Amino acid sequence: MQPVAASPRRETFLQYRVERRSQRDRRLRRNPNVTDLSTLMSSDAHIDSRSSTHTASGIEPVDRIFREEAVVRITDVSMRYSGSEWALSNVDLDIAEGEFVSIVGPSGCGKSTLLKLISGLELPSAGHVAVRGRRVDRPLSGIGFMFQRDALLPWATVAENIEVGLECGGYPKSQFDSRIDELLGLTGLQRFRNAFPRQLSGGMRQRVALARILAYAPDIYLMDEPFGALDAQTKVVMGQELMTIWSRAAHKSVVFVTHDIEEAVSLSDRVVVMGGRPGRIRTEYRIDLERPRDAREVRRQPRFHRYVDAIWNDIMSENLGGGAEPAASAVMGTH
Ligand SMILES: Nc1ncnc2c1ncn2[C@@H]1O[C@H](COP(=O)(O)OP(=O)(O)OP(=O)(O)O)[C@@H](O)[C@H]1O
Ligand SMILES: [Mg+2]
Repeated sequence: MQPVAASPRRETFLQYRVERRSQRDRRLRRNPNVTDLSTLMSSDAHIDSRSSTHTASGIEPVDRIFREEAVVRITDVSMRYSGSEWALSNVDLDIAEGEFVSIVGPSGCGKSTLLKLISGLELPSAGHVAVRGRRVDRPLSGIGFMFQRDALLPWATVAENIEVGLECGGYPKSQFDSRIDELLGLTGLQRFRNAFPRQLSGGMRQRVALARILAYAPDIYLMDEPFGALDAQTKVVMGQELMTIWSRAAHKSVVFVTHDIEEAVSLSDRVVVMGGRPGRIRTEYRIDLERPRDAREVRRQPRFHRYVDAIWNDIMSENLGGGAEPAASAVMGTH
């Protein structure tokens, strides 16, 4: 298995880092009151975000993948909530058009924070986030966020919950019924159109949440452990459905947070491994498994298991080295 860092890209990336560093230095010289974050953070905050890990599986992480045409560009982002420790430190990440990227890492390492920063629900303490070249300085439209909990309106029926997505997406009312029918069909919920969330199983509620985000038809999907509360089998089925929907949706960019390494590998083009504290990116793996993928078949491939092993090892070494919160829930998908 070959590492996939292409040298021209790496060169571009290095130029970019050098340029960015010198921009920061110039900024600091211009305005000495601008605080260099490095003076504020504890010493372990400065570990370079991509520590290289050689794994027994033969799979090696790739260098940061710098993309000229990134849809999402996260540049040297650090984040501290008021009165708290640093949640993220010096994070750089690019997401390409149509790319499916999963983020894994122990509890508390800043995965949800990263999604909130992309959506503009939170703003970084340092560095910046850009979507399609525009700096994110407020909550953005065109981004669909599926939260860690399903966040359905409990007093509204399945159809009405989906309608919220259509309204936010600016669909004309005359199209609501047909579009809701289509989405109920896509997510297998036709018989539950008039049911309330309390009458549905956890998996069905997540389907409604998925239908709602699809109704909105965003440009970018941010999915925070969307299937985290589901049993192992339902999770695989939902993953398969997501793959099907994603391919029909012309492969929109997806950032998918999960504690489940197998889920991450089976779905993604790239898996980003985060560590804590403060949260930072440790490694990235490009997942070179053929598409379209069948959720069960892909799990039988030896290469699939080698990716899973490599990522497991990364997360375990992070925990042994004193990372974020408990290893067991982080790596077993039992969160
Ligand atoms: N609104 C907030 N105010 C203060 N601190 C926060 C807030 N949200 C998150 N944090 C802190 O930021 C850090 C990262 O939190 P975050 O929710 O991003 O982690 P996570 O990786 O998503 O964890 P999990 O896997 O458990 O969902 C944690 O230390 C957390 O306590
Ligand atoms: Mg979270």
